Amino acid sequence: MSIISKDISKAIALLTAEDIVAIPTETVYGLAGNIYSEKAIKSIFETKKRPFFNPLIVHIPSIDQLTDIVDYIPEKAQLLAEAFWPGPITLVLKKKAIIPDLITGGKDTVAVRVPNHPTTLELLNQLDFPLAAPSANPFSSISPTTAQHVETYFKDDIKMVLDGGACTSGIESTIIGFEGDEPVIYRLGSTAIEAIEAIVGNIEIKNTKEVSPDAPGMLARHYAPKTKTILTDSILEALKLHKNKRIGLITFQSEIDNPNIEVQIALSASGDLAESASNLYDVLHQLDKMHLDIIIAEEFPNYGLGKSINDRLTRATK
Ligand code: TXA
Ligand code: MG
Repeated sequence: MSIISKDISKAIALLTAEDIVAIPTETVYGLAGNIYSEKAIKSIFETKKRPFFNPLIVHIPSIDQLTDIVDYIPEKAQLLAEAFWPGPITLVLKKKAIIPDLITGGKDTVAVRVPNHPTTLELLNQLDFPLAAPSANPFSSISPTTAQHVETYFKDDIKMVLDGGACTSGIESTIIGFEGDEPVIYRLGSTAIEAIEAIVGNIEIKNTKEVSPDAPGMLARHYAPKTKTILTDSILEALKLHKNKRIGLITFQSEIDNPNIEVQIALSASGDLAESASNLYDVLHQLDKMHLDIIIAEEFPNYGLGKSINDRLTRATK
């Protein structure tokens, strides 16, 4: 029997009983549990096979609950929350003592956001606790953007995926930390850096583990298909180099006429970066099922969501 269901009351019953449930968000599906239940949180880490040092994002129903979770809100954090919540921005702020160390990997900061998905907002509004939810994929593999993706990963491990349809943004939230009161980007994501800079001015990107040990989840290899994947600014050269292989090609908008390509998918025929982001993981899931020899991906324009797409494709190649 399928574990996919639209029944919010069933999700409430499971979560209240300290069980875990996969939930839809606008970015990717999350694997959710009560932040105050040690049992639920341990079960999230075990199901994902995620190391305990890698902290989780806390999901709250509205900006009003932020002060329940964090001790101090810099002015620019307040501005960002007001501008983008509900939506794909996560803020890393000084945690309140009540937030368990298991959620934060022992750090004194906690990551928090208000997701922009009607089903999950309704769920959060009915629960009397926030939900910790990392992306609902095994550690380091491709994030899920449909209920079916989650079911394929975890049908033997969890009781329910709350179905909210395909995720509209399609890549994870942009994570912002603070150095003193100044924001820095820990992870590029579904909110474009230009939109953030319009609110808080110039912002530095500290997007890798090497420069940002503060974001332990930023491993070089992440979001990765099992199929060998390369990222190139010259598709024609890459095709020549790999010509005797079974090739899957991902482009921004162009179609390439070449007999060596077994399958090719343009992420947005009209050249729209938001549409490309929303299609990216589903296309990676599709190609990864085809037992190709190689996936060749075209570099995206390096601005707006193109920057975030290039970040994910780069991690997929490691
Ligand atoms: O869009 C998203 O953010 C999705 C949906 C489900 O909300 N969630 C998500 O969670 O992508 P996850 O666990 O896959 O990624 C969370 C990232 C990790 O890289 C983790 O290291 C970082 O957030 N993080 C969490 N708490 C942190 C903290 N206190 N300081 C620095 N980084 C933190
Ligand atoms: Mg993840």
